Amino acid sequence: NAASKGTYEFYMLKEIDEQPGVMRKLSQDYLDVNGEPVLDQKIVDAVSEADRLYIYAAGTSYNAGLVGKEFFEKLTGIPTEVGLASEVGYHFPMLSKKPFFIFLTQSGETADSRVVLKEANKRGIPSLTLTNVQGSTLSREADYTILLEAGPEIAVASTKAYTAQLAVQVILAKAVGEKLGVKAAKDFPLKKQLALAAEGMQQIVDGKAKFDELASDYLIKSRNAFYIGRGIDYAVSLEGALKLKEVSYIQTEGFAAAELKHGTISLIEKGTPVIALINDPVTAELTRGNIREVESRGAHVISIVSHDLAQAGDTVVLPKIDYLMSAFLTVVPAQLLAYFASKNKGLDVDKPRNLAKSVTVE
Ligand code: G6P
Repeated sequence: NAASKGTYEFYMLKEIDEQPGVMRKLSQDYLDVNGEPVLDQKIVDAVSEADRLYIYAAGTSYNAGLVGKEFFEKLTGIPTEVGLASEVGYHFPMLSKKPFFIFLTQSGETADSRVVLKEANKRGIPSLTLTNVQGSTLSREADYTILLEAGPEIAVASTKAYTAQLAVQVILAKAVGEKLGVKAAKDFPLKKQLALAAEGMQQIVDGKAKFDELASDYLIKSRNAFYIGRGIDYAVSLEGALKLKEVSYIQTEGFAAAELKHGTISLIEKGTPVIALINDPVTAELTRGNIREVESRGAHVISIVSHDLAQAGDTVVLPKIDYLMSAFLTVVPAQLLAYFASKNKGLDVDKPRNLAKSVTVE
């Protein structure tokens, strides 16, 4: 039974462990043997006609949208905005001539997102919902739906729905980019990259004991922590920080690596954990510089670095994958650090205080 905990103490770890399987399932269901996307053609056509994409979501789904923007812009060439649904519902942005709205929502029930969709419908803006729940409200009310196929997600902290959202977005981006004749989309070996994501995730979860130790040694006694990164790593920093703070109650902020020195570095003290994500070859050296800045002020740095950019002394070296796909792998250590920080503090990992799985009030 997909919704039972089996031998797991908590759903969160079960759901983290399920991610390689979800990647394989999505690849099987949404790509053909040649690696070409097989999505409802009406959806691909509708997105292709847009001159700008607008992604709206809340919480972890919003963080997945930040990565989605990279997929859509790189593979389709269509400018893409990402917004917090709650900030947009009553103050719509200036829209382009042919907008297309994409809603990311695990539950399909988030009230903040629904407000935006209702307004979009009133204005006749075409829309697509990516959701894990067939027949959910945002699925019914949007023009189109693509299912995340992640299986039931029970832990309040979202994990496999995030990576499923990444996968469905990159599949859609490839389909739309190919339809538009974008070279980057045609050249992108998505099936292979999704296979690397699944294998890489498996390697990381197989080595989970390391994150148990890191969480005990460096996180659980700390009041606060930071995630830093640039580009896609900045987007994953926001998700890593959200995961850690929501389940462990360690106040954690995700920062664009260079921004720390513009103010927040004043919070670094002896032993403050700074988790640094480095996958972007273009900015890797600059982030290394930011690591030195915080280390010289006493921070304890946990570096999570791509296979190609790793140096002696890095804490975690990720399995091989394209930079564009790096979020699939970078987020898994972040999820595991959050899980073990919470568990090792003796907290109820699956049900953090004050939180609900699905928030149906504005
Ligand atoms: C709640 C959950 C979060 C989730 C957010 C958006 O706050 O606790 O984990 O990311 O809602 O939910 P959705 O179902 O729209 O993705």
